[in-house]
Amino acid sequence: MKNICVLVSGGGTNLQALIDAQDRGEIKGGRISCVISSNPEAYALERAKKAGIAGVVIPRKEYQSSKAYSEAILAELDRQKADLVVLAGFMTILDECVTKAYDYKIINVHPALIPSFCGEGFYGLKVHEKALEYGVKVSGATIHFVNEKADAGAIILQGTVDVANDDTPQTLQRKIMENVEWKLLPKAVSLFCENRISIKDGKAYVDL
Ligand code: GAR
Repeated sequence: MKNICVLVSGGGTNLQALIDAQDRGEIKGGRISCVISSNPEAYALERAKKAGIAGVVIPRKEYQSSKAYSEAILAELDRQKADLVVLAGFMTILDECVTKAYDYKIINVHPALIPSFCGEGFYGLKVHEKALEYGVKVSGATIHFVNEKADAGAIILQGTVDVANDDTPQTLQRKIMENVEWKLLPKAVSLFCENRISIKDGKAYVDL
């Protein structure tokens, strides 16, 4: 069984999707052993508690630099003996001390079709605001490995939704979460835990 650590910062609906999938027996070969939050107020911590999963708070505000913060995260991941790290609405970019130590072992969910609307500064609702501002007709979400560059690691799964004329950032966000994120994140986590993702020339290939 692989040890899964989930990193969160906010509401935690993606964490909930993982917990629900685990309860349905859909995360094969792994179990969520802890939830680490950068924000002491994150509702995701309540979700973890309700599911009987250990919650650890490492407040981003208490660290002066991204490097110092990343070192604290790294120490906790090592302590938890994490086999897989899932960034589920984790709003802090991790320094390469973490990405190197957990190479191809960190999975992120990004609420757009990478390489569009991604990179530093593109997170949460902002991503959907930018997509609507541009006028795209489809958007979606991407599940990818995390490397030293923001949102630039190998893509594992992507899914799309149509953008309606009257979509707002909020309705588009909800549509992408419901139709793509909450389905594909648990699926990618299970594929990883079942060793069904391979890497060749920096690209991820899924054995579906
Ligand atoms: C999700 O839409 C996730 O894709 C996005 O933040 C939201 C978190 O929601 N993540 C990013 O923008 C990371 N760059 P949640 O806390 O309810 O899972």
